[in-house]
Amino acid sequence: MKTFSPVLAALLLLTFNAVSQTTAWNRLSAMGSRGYNLSNWLEAYWLGASYPNVLEYSRQELDALAQMGFRSVRVPILLERITSDVAPYDSVLNNAPFAIVDSVILASARENDIAVILVNHHGFELTNANWRTALPRLCGMWIALTERFRGLPRDYVFFELRNEPALDIHNDTLHILQQAIIDSIRAHDAERTLIVGANWWNAGWSLADSRPYNDAADNIIYTFHNYDPYEFTHQGFSWTGLPTGPTFAYPGKAADDIRAMFLRVKDWSLLHQVPVFLGEFGVSWFADEASRCAYIACLTDLCEVFDFPWIYWDVKHGHDAFGIFSGSSVRYSDLIPCFRNAMGLVDTVSTAGHTAAPRSVALDVFPDPVSDLASVSYTLAEPGTVLLTASDLLGREVAVLASGRHEAGTFSAVWRCAGLPPGAYIIRLSADASTNH
Ligand code: GLC
Repeated sequence: MKTFSPVLAALLLLTFNAVSQTTAWNRLSAMGSRGYNLSNWLEAYWLGASYPNVLEYSRQELDALAQMGFRSVRVPILLERITSDVAPYDSVLNNAPFAIVDSVILASARENDIAVILVNHHGFELTNANWRTALPRLCGMWIALTERFRGLPRDYVFFELRNEPALDIHNDTLHILQQAIIDSIRAHDAERTLIVGANWWNAGWSLADSRPYNDAADNIIYTFHNYDPYEFTHQGFSWTGLPTGPTFAYPGKAADDIRAMFLRVKDWSLLHQVPVFLGEFGVSWFADEASRCAYIACLTDLCEVFDFPWIYWDVKHGHDAFGIFSGSSVRYSDLIPCFRNAMGLVDTVSTAGHTAAPRSVALDVFPDPVSDLASVSYTLAEPGTVLLTASDLLGREVAVLASGRHEAGTFSAVWRCAGLPPGAYIIRLSADASTNH
């Protein structure tokens, strides 16, 4: 009987130098591997005059999420709607939403040592026709925000320029617009980490088809979202009108398609030597439980394999949304088990001193980058059947380095890689523990 299937991977660059450790890469590390979107709160335009709902999240809930192991929080805010639309765009930066950001969100992040992404969410629809008119205001708004948040630490507070530009703006046009915003911010702050994505609602393949931005500070992180297959992830919602019923199997064709897209994004990240993370993914509350579990395992596994930090959308609301809790409380004991396991969340409140969330065996490669010979060491926490392989970024296996049953312990394998084309390779270790061997 299989009891678990951890999958680990390391990326090797054979002849290129290792990915340079620019500020942006260091800031990506500061995000940790797992985060959550603090959604349905400061981006909730549908509340109208009741916006913002000060009771949507409490400080205790944010602290609890950090204590479960989330290392970053992405904060969608109606920045374009709650800032002044009149030059110099800085007259209303002290309203209620910003007070919540200051006194609840940033205060919790500071105390719990987690990264914060402030993202311009649900801005006005950008199009190829209106972007020139929008440009001065967007640049002015970001300059005003840059100044307002100047005092905040740069190592854990980042700005994301715009959530999900849609279809009506081409990537080339979007590039001009976002480059102008980046240049405007840089004239006021050379060190704040900025986050940008591509059109088609931040699709991964759209990012992989786009060009990176110029930044003398070399301090930009790129983002993509994945809700594919949409009919599955968005089923049953009142706001999509999609029927319930589609299922998801992992492994399976849909999972392979997502993996292929991840490969393209990783390839793009390595080609341009820029850091990338998965800023949104989620699965409808209305999907059947087995499919939800399969989906969450698929996405978190892929993020681990490709070394993309992930940020889940959205944790709280069970109904008509994507929630990860079985009830309305934000507490460890109410986490849906398969979400808790796939996300590697831990009960740090009752497990004193346990802050990390190990979910896999250890894997290490030396040297990195490699030339013609590498040593791959791996540690099994318990006996199991292992398969250690090397594959290229198209998923083609180029070598089997070890296979068979191992006792618990640390082992090493030699990878003779002379003759392989230069590039990035994935080393993957699968270990299935058996209870009846
Ligand atoms: C995007 C949208 C948000 C939606 C989410 C999931 O972030 O802006 O409104 O809930 O995707 O569909």
